[in-house]
Amino acid sequence: MPNILWITGGRVIDPANNRDAIGDVCVIDGKVSAALTEDQQRSANKIDATGLVVAPGLVDIHVHFRDPGQTHKESIRTGTEAAAAGGFTSVICMPNTSPVCDNAGTIQRIMDKVARVAVVNVYPTGCLTLEMEGKRLAPTGQLKTAGVVAMTDNGKCVQSHEIMRRAVEYAKMFDLTIMDHCQDETQTEDAVMNEGEWSLRLGLRGWPKFAEDIMVARNVLLAELTGAHIHMQHISSATSIDIIRRAKGRNIRVTAEACPHHFEFTDADLKDYDTNLKVNPPLRTDADRESIIGALKDGTLNCIASDHAPHTPTEKDCEFDYAPLGIIGLETSLAASLHALYHSERLTLSEVVALMTHKAAEICNLDAGTLSIGATADMCLFDPDEAWTVDADKFYSKSRNCPWHGKSLKGKVKATYVAGHAVFDGQSIII
Ligand code: DOR
Ligand code: ZN
Repeated sequence: MPNILWITGGRVIDPANNRDAIGDVCVIDGKVSAALTEDQQRSANKIDATGLVVAPGLVDIHVHFRDPGQTHKESIRTGTEAAAAGGFTSVICMPNTSPVCDNAGTIQRIMDKVARVAVVNVYPTGCLTLEMEGKRLAPTGQLKTAGVVAMTDNGKCVQSHEIMRRAVEYAKMFDLTIMDHCQDETQTEDAVMNEGEWSLRLGLRGWPKFAEDIMVARNVLLAELTGAHIHMQHISSATSIDIIRRAKGRNIRVTAEACPHHFEFTDADLKDYDTNLKVNPPLRTDADRESIIGALKDGTLNCIASDHAPHTPTEKDCEFDYAPLGIIGLETSLAASLHALYHSERLTLSEVVALMTHKAAEICNLDAGTLSIGATADMCLFDPDEAWTVDADKFYSKSRNCPWHGKSLKGKVKATYVAGHAVFDGQSIII
């Protein structure tokens, strides 16, 4: 007996196919199907999605699962549960684990655990350099064979332009996207927040936008020189956006992402020294925030990614200077994006869904993010208008470092399906 799912009456938003209309989605044995016969309809598991959006499963190309090495912060199991509860069916995890992902063995270990415990699809990345020290190249070919979908030293940025050039050339040979965390470390020593009026007022060490801009510009030059695809992570600065926009205008192979916290909050929000707003790169000014939203609208920024970065309460509960950088995002990313972009009437619902599905999947050529006929039936059902109060204590994530805690947002995930199987039903993880 085939396994048949018939989702009826929802607003189907599948931007890759220019679809935004009330309709049905049919699934046979985990694949999207054009229609069901009457017999198939009779045996189908029928789900009434009236009033809900039926979208492709969300795709987050930038998460940290701390597994192996720091599973007290997050594990592949809890991280993927958080993903499922947030509507995500595919995630790309960063290599700054312990040990770091600079060798095939660590990738194999991650893939083995993913096969055993993950509730959504997980794609690993490999380090650009050994130990993420920026000095010697990691074995790109072996990492590719082991299954990585991109190369990055995320959490760090390769400082030597010579090493970065070689890393980019190797990644290109193996047809891998390079994802760069753009940060000139000479500009950010001991820095904890955006350099500007607020760092002066609060007496905190400033982190200039220039530190990001100069590496974005370096990467544009490297992409032009080598023809490689370089993806710029968590863009926070209006000047960086301007550089990327001009590079795209010259058909240079660069792409970029934005994180919800960078288009929701600003450095002024740090006035109470909340360490759950301490992040790398730091929250910038209102002008930067505006620029990010404009760039998400016009395509200069290709997609939304959460940079889900779990840290323990003990680590975050300290003086601002000493807290680690990072905030969790998987369980708030959709509602936060809807809040800042859709409910504020800046982007359409379909535009937001596109930024969180096929446009994200495209960066590393993931086979995900659409409801095309024959595609794997990864889906997210959500109510874009349902209000809820974020309670980080109820998260599936093991960590609680969430700046939206206690805030009211609109947009609630009602169900998540991976290959036609429900993994989240709006209340609980099912698996
Ligand atoms: O805020 C961040 N935290 N940004 C990063 O790039 C790394 C991450 C982490 O690993 O905690
Ligand atoms: Zn990151």
